Amino acid sequence: MAVNAARFLEDLHTLRSFGASGVGKGVVRPAYSKADIAARRWLANRMEEAGLRVQFDPVGNLFGLAEGPSLLLGSHSDSQPQGGWLDGSLGVIAALEIARSSNRPVSVVSFQDEEGRFGVTTGSAVWSGHMRLNRADALTDLAGVPFATARATMADLAGGFVDASQFTGFVELHIEQGPVLDSERDQIGVVTDIVGIRDMVITFEGQQNHAGTTPMHLRHDAFQALATFNARLEKRFQKHLARRTVWTIGYVSLLPNASSIVPGRVSFSIQWRDSDPARLGRMEKIIRTTAKEVAAERGMTLSNGMMLGLDPVAMDPALRAALEAGAEAVAPGRWRRMPSGALHDATNVARLMPVAMLFVPSIGGISHNFAEDTDEEDLVAGLRVLDHAVQELA
Ligand code: GLV
Ligand code: MN
Ligand code: MN
Repeated sequence: MAVNAARFLEDLHTLRSFGASGVGKGVVRPAYSKADIAARRWLANRMEEAGLRVQFDPVGNLFGLAEGPSLLLGSHSDSQPQGGWLDGSLGVIAALEIARSSNRPVSVVSFQDEEGRFGVTTGSAVWSGHMRLNRADALTDLAGVPFATARATMADLAGGFVDASQFTGFVELHIEQGPVLDSERDQIGVVTDIVGIRDMVITFEGQQNHAGTTPMHLRHDAFQALATFNARLEKRFQKHLARRTVWTIGYVSLLPNASSIVPGRVSFSIQWRDSDPARLGRMEKIIRTTAKEVAAERGMTLSNGMMLGLDPVAMDPALRAALEAGAEAVAPGRWRRMPSGALHDATNVARLMPVAMLFVPSIGGISHNFAEDTDEEDLVAGLRVLDHAVQELA
């Protein structure tokens, strides 16, 4: 039976109604939010209708299991705090469509907290053994909610962890989330490897004081410490960065955040990504040294949270070859091999089984944004390539 493109698109649009932001097609569906859990319940029903056996695990990963050995397809259905409708959802709904249309055994997964409300790809990190559950339980989100508390909200659904030995491999369809396919007018990207990442929250604690009466030379201003840290880091990184190295301070909390108060405390995230673990390590040293220096110079107490990370991984050659054959069949001359600069659950799953990924274009290269979008023709092309590969592999 062939994949049903209309049913696939309809389910994809239904999924975006959970946590719809009201801005474009955007969604607000962070892990364990009401919208996320409602979406997972809906997905579980769709899996059951497809003849799959549904199992939630203790961290909220949702599996739809085929009988016996099967290929695992999927991605995640949680979103960033301001997320697009396709990031993760595309891979989950494509998996569902293939599972219900294929006569090959295909299982489906929607991993929990891929977007890192708590860690980095938390659900698949725990399932794969990259992070022990008791360590994950101690993680907190930016509001201080522990992971243990959040996952308890799904305890009524939870079964045991799914035995990974039943799966012969994992393939994840995803949007590119970058500009390459769109600008090169290619329809499919077959992923060669996924970058590595490090992520940490740093806190400078200075002295909160009156912004009118405190002389400049007596201040311990947490904002100024962050500003100095950022400027110095940018300069020091210059000679260490490769073409695709990236680093981001994307979260900042300044306390108490008022115009007439010298800020006493700043907590901020620092995240860096590269395909070379040695470079990630050198960058870590520079970050830690610079933070210490700035803290000493500006009279700050320095602390940092747990550094989380994933190393780069290469895709499995056999699974990749099946995707390449599918790409050539569906989009002849309009596909390319490419690395992934975004993180994916596939990185963790690679600890357990062979993995591969494919991309479809993101319009304007925009993602992690309500404006994220892809032409429906390209979404369907991605589905067909994945289906083609599944038929070849099974
Ligand atoms: C995943 O969303 C990432 O941050 O790359
Ligand atoms: Mn994603
Ligand atoms: Mn994402």
